[in-house]
Amino acid sequence: MLHMKNINLENKRVFIRLDLNVPLDGEKIISSERIDRALPTIQLALKKNAKIILASHLGRPKEGCYDKKLSLLPVFKYLKKKLYGTNIIFYKKYLEGINVESNQIVLLENVRFNYGEITNDIELSKKYANLCDIFIMDAFATAHRIEASTYGICNFVKKSCIGPLLYSEIKILKNILNKPKHPIVTIVGGAKVSTKIKLLSSLLKITDTMLLGGGIANTFISIFHSVGKSLHEKNFKNKAKILFDTNKIILPVDSRVSTSYSINATATIKPVSNILPHEEILDIGNETIKNYKSIIKQANTILWNGPMGVFEFPNFRRGTEEIAKSIAYCAAYSVAGGGDTIAVINLFNLYNNISYISTGGGAFLEFIENKTLPILEKLKN
Ligand code: 3PG
Repeated sequence: MLHMKNINLENKRVFIRLDLNVPLDGEKIISSERIDRALPTIQLALKKNAKIILASHLGRPKEGCYDKKLSLLPVFKYLKKKLYGTNIIFYKKYLEGINVESNQIVLLENVRFNYGEITNDIELSKKYANLCDIFIMDAFATAHRIEASTYGICNFVKKSCIGPLLYSEIKILKNILNKPKHPIVTIVGGAKVSTKIKLLSSLLKITDTMLLGGGIANTFISIFHSVGKSLHEKNFKNKAKILFDTNKIILPVDSRVSTSYSINATATIKPVSNILPHEEILDIGNETIKNYKSIIKQANTILWNGPMGVFEFPNFRRGTEEIAKSIAYCAAYSVAGGGDTIAVINLFNLYNNISYISTGGGAFLEFIENKTLPILEKLKN
């Protein structure tokens, strides 16, 4: 694959696809993580005297419709501050052509406002391609999507290459998947087995021990015990059993349960073998925390995706907090990815203690599952 750093960009119009899909509260950016991680790419393009066009989506607007709440304007304002002194402008309408000078940055409005973006429309892809001489794909977090600005554009642009963030994300994940330092402990939480079944089987191929939490663990627990009202997927019990028979999966032995799902609900700790029909598991219990922590301590590599329980509720946060801290403070090389996981890392201020935090959610999981992504195959050609 061609890398942006090895290409002459002098006076060239470069279309850089980034993932600037950051969480917003009105106009306020809740986490600037993805923008900050894109800055080195923008700075490299500036250093190379390129004519810089930045593109990204934000949220999931109705196809072809402008939605003020999902405008990239707050991102533009943030970039302007961060790149103080740089000539940077914002374009709302750009499909019929734009003017961009060397060392100037143009941020395009949310590409998902364009009809045909998510359906990878040919005409739209051509329009993007007409805006530039070179396409640089650097949106790791959107690299699992086949859309006009992440994929289709490659078919019509003269030259395409990979950007530094996408490159480093892939390199780190590939290293772990191909040359892992054992013991590898994977920690998977979150709501549903059904959305992570492929991920679990891919991870089990490389992992020595897998620790489960959240609704995912409940489905596994339900193979052996009744889980009452707890979130679990009956239809996936058989698939879960096949995975469990690899003998690599460790399940919670106790849990924090509640009789109602609410932010003020009180927690009772109980063995998982003793959950009553009106109770639901909302977090792992103390015995499980102790158990999981001792396994994490022995790991050389850790892969983590998903919380251990409903960490949004203070009384059901303990399991996620303790496990997150033990991952952060252990000696192993730790990699974390996924939207909820990053929210947990930020909540407990562990950002600087995780060895590598991927900017990807779905892309992170899909790369682990398939060891590649569609756009990477495309860029290879
Ligand atoms: C993400 O947040 O995972 C990426 O930006 C992709 O967004 P999408 O799931 O809306 O395609």
